[in-house]
Amino acid sequence: MDAARLALALCVLLGDEVRAAALPAACCWCDGDTPVSERSTLDSDGRRHELVFSDEFETLGRDFANGRDKRWTAINKSDYTNGSPMRYMPEAVTTVLDRGAYMRVSSNASVDDKEWREYARPHRSLHITTANITADARLAKAVNKTFTGGMLQSWNKFCFTGGIIEISAKFPAGAGFWPALWLFGNLGRAIYKESTDGLWPYSFEACDPDFEAMNVPTPGLKQRISGCDPEPGFGLNPRQGRGATEIDIAEVADSKNGANGWLATSLQAAPAIPKFFRPAHGEMPSGYRADPGTGRWALDPDAAHAARSATWYRGLRFGGNESNTPPVKPFVNWYGAPYADTLAGCTEGLNDLSERYRKFRLEWQEGDGGHLRWFIDDAFVFGIGDEALGRYTACGQSPTDDAFLCEHAPKRTMPAEPMSIVLNSALGSWNGGASATRGSLPGHLYVDHVRVWQRADRLNVGCDPPDHPTKEYIDAHPLLYGEPVLPRSEDACKPIYPPRARDAPLAPDGGDGGAARAPSARRAGEARGGAQARLIVSAVLVCAAVAAFVVGPRVVRAARGESAAARAASHYSSVVDGADAPDGGASIRAPMLLRPNGGGRRADAPR
Ligand SMILES: *[C@@H]1O[C@H](CO)[C@@H](O)[C@H](O)[C@H]1NC(C)=O
Ligand SMILES: *[C@@H]1O[C@H](CO)[C@@H](O)[C@H](O)[C@H]1NC(C)=O
Ligand SMILES: *[C@@H]1O[C@H](CO)[C@@H](O)[C@H](O)[C@H]1NC(C)=O
Ligand SMILES: *[C@@H]1O[C@H](CO)[C@@H](O)[C@H](O)[C@H]1NC(C)=O
Ligand SMILES: *[C@@H]1O[C@H](CO)[C@@H](O)[C@H](O)[C@H]1NC(C)=O
Repeated sequence: MDAARLALALCVLLGDEVRAAALPAACCWCDGDTPVSERSTLDSDGRRHELVFSDEFETLGRDFANGRDKRWTAINKSDYTNGSPMRYMPEAVTTVLDRGAYMRVSSNASVDDKEWREYARPHRSLHITTANITADARLAKAVNKTFTGGMLQSWNKFCFTGGIIEISAKFPAGAGFWPALWLFGNLGRAIYKESTDGLWPYSFEACDPDFEAMNVPTPGLKQRISGCDPEPGFGLNPRQGRGATEIDIAEVADSKNGANGWLATSLQAAPAIPKFFRPAHGEMPSGYRADPGTGRWALDPDAAHAARSATWYRGLRFGGNESNTPPVKPFVNWYGAPYADTLAGCTEGLNDLSERYRKFRLEWQEGDGGHLRWFIDDAFVFGIGDEALGRYTACGQSPTDDAFLCEHAPKRTMPAEPMSIVLNSALGSWNGGASATRGSLPGHLYVDHVRVWQRADRLNVGCDPPDHPTKEYIDAHPLLYGEPVLPRSEDACKPIYPPRARDAPLAPDGGDGGAARAPSARRAGEARGGAQARLIVSAVLVCAAVAAFVVGPRVVRAARGESAAARAASHYSSVVDGADAPDGGASIRAPMLLRPNGGGRRADAPR
């Protein structure tokens, strides 16, 4: 046995105290119960990451009500999002010894035959219960809801920017439940709707004058903190668009008999790309197919070349079809709200989501050149490269007159906001909703551990990094965020921000701040310059761009006339795939990125 292994064995033998002492002093958020072997990990590119946060939930009977826990807050509020009939209560969240589960005995998926089996070693886990409170009329009346459940948030306590997060979890058995493990940009607080309107799920830091000038039918949904604003105030950086980005590590749908469960791994991103590119909900995106060799879904190189124009996001990679993971497909149930896109992979055919713990891991490299990669039990399932978030432009001839119309989505930002962690089990518009839980209540969500690692040279832990500040804004808007959480983040652990996040924000006039400007602000400056109609058009763009200039006034007219624009949009005859096209379309109006009546629903899908 070599020295390192001997040391490791000794540590494990000597127990908690020694293990705690072995933690690097800097890791204030780390749980001493995290095994030594998990203090560092490698990403899929082989790069070493160090533990910066963990909770193993080894102590039983924990109380997560506000003020009781340094990492988490259990929400005490009724949920008015997504048609939820749920009251989140701190009483629904604690830690327990999980000895086993009812497991399927039959391999026949339609036979609901289960028996209780104990694990070789019980799990000490977080436990969130979903229950029916209709019988308790007084409570139901007091909270105005018919179900209770739990939501744990690290909002405004622990946030991180970039790195790897791993959550080991087991989900409620049966249909109806909506358990989710997710990350949320700290400028928004999950289910506090007033805090998320206008911020969810923007991932757009630059200034796009066309996007900025657009009429937004629902004013509350326009990006509240715009990259064009030279003086946003509240300690925010000038000319830096901000948002409450959502990254879903796993949203799970179990079935009534436990067979054929599935889950979605996704990024929600706004602004949305032009509706032309969006498949109807329920339909496979064109251009993607299962590779005959590997069974993995990917862009079909031939089809993609031919039908390039009409392809839903490029740069999506799907995994699965390995020994322990079923094939992963594009997620067709939901491509997003009218003004936002859902980029998702769907892992299908999971039969044991409520029987055993699986490890869900997300690799997140923030900002330009970054990526998101999801893994289940170490198998790659889904990935989004920065190129997927590029600029998309669609142009076409109106069928009603000879106007040429173009619309575009600017290049979005690979999420770079400080993110908080959310663990919950909702009920609502997913997997049959509340009525589908009949016979399955109460539901049980278990989480065995949560661990976050970052590269030693990219440590970025805290909710208020100078390049994406949140503290002053949150403190100045207490009505948006509900009850402040305690202990305060700064009283719990000292934040760690990398030198590049400390770049002084630019001068208020956005002038030549020189070397001291924040990277995002530099980008915003470039975008402003670029928008001055740089008409270096590629061969494909020439026709559309020239026509648009000739009929410029008509384009503007169409932009004002909502129905005309919508009609035109649904008859686009030609399209320019703009992710790698130059900025030639920048001076063309983008008339209908945001529309009042369910753009992106079936009726509007331009196919
Ligand atoms: C939850 O909020 C209610 C008021 O809405 C309060 O009476 C109750 O004490 C709170 N529960 C906890 C555990 O803080
Ligand atoms: C599965 O069970 C159902 C109900 O008992 C039965 O009708 C069906 O034939 C079974 N399928 C297989 C493949 O055994
Ligand atoms: C109770 O719920 C209804 C609809 O779900 C809502 O309109 C109403 O404002 C709620 N009342 C309270 C006191 O929260
Ligand atoms: C998985 O991949 C193999 C080839 O490695 C293929 O033969 C099989 O059909 C694939 N399975 C599915 C479900 O696509
Ligand atoms: C909830 O409880 C009420 C009262 O006992 C019952 O009528 C209702 O069917 C239950 N709902 C579900 C989904 O189990």
